[in-house]
Amino acid sequence: MAKNAQIFEEALEVFKKQFSREPEKVVAAPGRANIIGEHTDYNDGHVLPIAIDRYTVAAGANRPDRIFKFYTANFNEKFEFNMDDLPQKRPQWVSYMMGVAAEIENDGFKMSGKEIAVYGNVPIGSGLSSSAALEIATATLFERLEGWNMEDARMVNICRRADHNFVGVNSGPMDQFASRACRKGHAGLLDCRSLEMTQHKLPDNILFLSIYSGIPRSLATSEYNERQESCQKAVEILKKTNPGVTALRDATTKMVEAAKHELGDRVYRRAKHVVTEEQRVFDILEAFTKNNLTRIGKLLLEGHKSLSVDYEVSLPILDEMIEWFYKRTGVIGARLTGAGFGGSLICLVETEKTDIEELTASFIEEFKNKTPESPEIWQLTTVDGAKYNH
Ligand code: GLA
Repeated sequence: MAKNAQIFEEALEVFKKQFSREPEKVVAAPGRANIIGEHTDYNDGHVLPIAIDRYTVAAGANRPDRIFKFYTANFNEKFEFNMDDLPQKRPQWVSYMMGVAAEIENDGFKMSGKEIAVYGNVPIGSGLSSSAALEIATATLFERLEGWNMEDARMVNICRRADHNFVGVNSGPMDQFASRACRKGHAGLLDCRSLEMTQHKLPDNILFLSIYSGIPRSLATSEYNERQESCQKAVEILKKTNPGVTALRDATTKMVEAAKHELGDRVYRRAKHVVTEEQRVFDILEAFTKNNLTRIGKLLLEGHKSLSVDYEVSLPILDEMIEWFYKRTGVIGARLTGAGFGGSLICLVETEKTDIEELTASFIEEFKNKTPESPEIWQLTTVDGAKYNH
């Protein structure tokens, strides 16, 4: 996989080659890993992501007309359209970029045409938000080329509408917000109702590992949308006796338990996950502040089990991987990160006590024949979001 410096160079070079001129602006938007707060974002709850050192880089220049020309070096594909006559048939990578362009205009901005080349090393389909990185890279590039100064919340909502209206996934705001506004060395606590993010410094004695499970995310869209519908159903039921509940973020464990029968087993378990997960976000923040690694590990495991048993977005092999990590020296904790159904795990380790090479080699040895694709581990570095990359 290409290194970050190569990605920047390459994006510049492919721009020059494709469009026979120098780019006017270049931006880099990172992928994300979520520490905790899974499937809480579309319930108006809280999430705690980090931006990671894998990027989508977008290089671009203005045109005087309304023609948009996109090129991706990842797929070596080109696409061209007129902003006043959007084509219905297009590859998915274009849907993200064209969706952002169209939704920016629907939000009241007006743009001239653009030429853009993108290149990225956020692994695609691995649960680390390559699509949000592509959207935020595109939106931030438009912002710089047009000389706007867009609020984070506004940009994130625009990108979400691109997901909803052009791609067909009803995603929450976490991934785009992390890619835009997280800070190096910090986890960003995002309130998904107010869309305000506060930065929380991470302890110096821990490292993050990203583990690609070797199972590409599949079925994700339909299952993801089903989880949202269940949460909505829970809200409809809970608000009959608790009028203040407009999203699951407002519900308590007590309310969910009291309505257990009426919710029915499946919806009850979905609601239980969200309500308990919301609490875990705050509990883990407190444990970070106190540097209480044992507590962090316990909360990560509880979070994973809740995703597995109640939210049903894990798989037996992913549960096996989590158990495996908890038996290793130096591991603080691990859990599934992102939407689930395959994808990636995140593992926190104590820097001093962990032999990362040994851990990586024995993990690969253990799981290499148990998954359709090769599992991978790499050490993550937290980075700044696209807004801060100049
Ligand atoms: C995906 C979505 C996010 C969020 C997570 C689950 O990554 O894009 O909005 O819902 O799943 O926490």
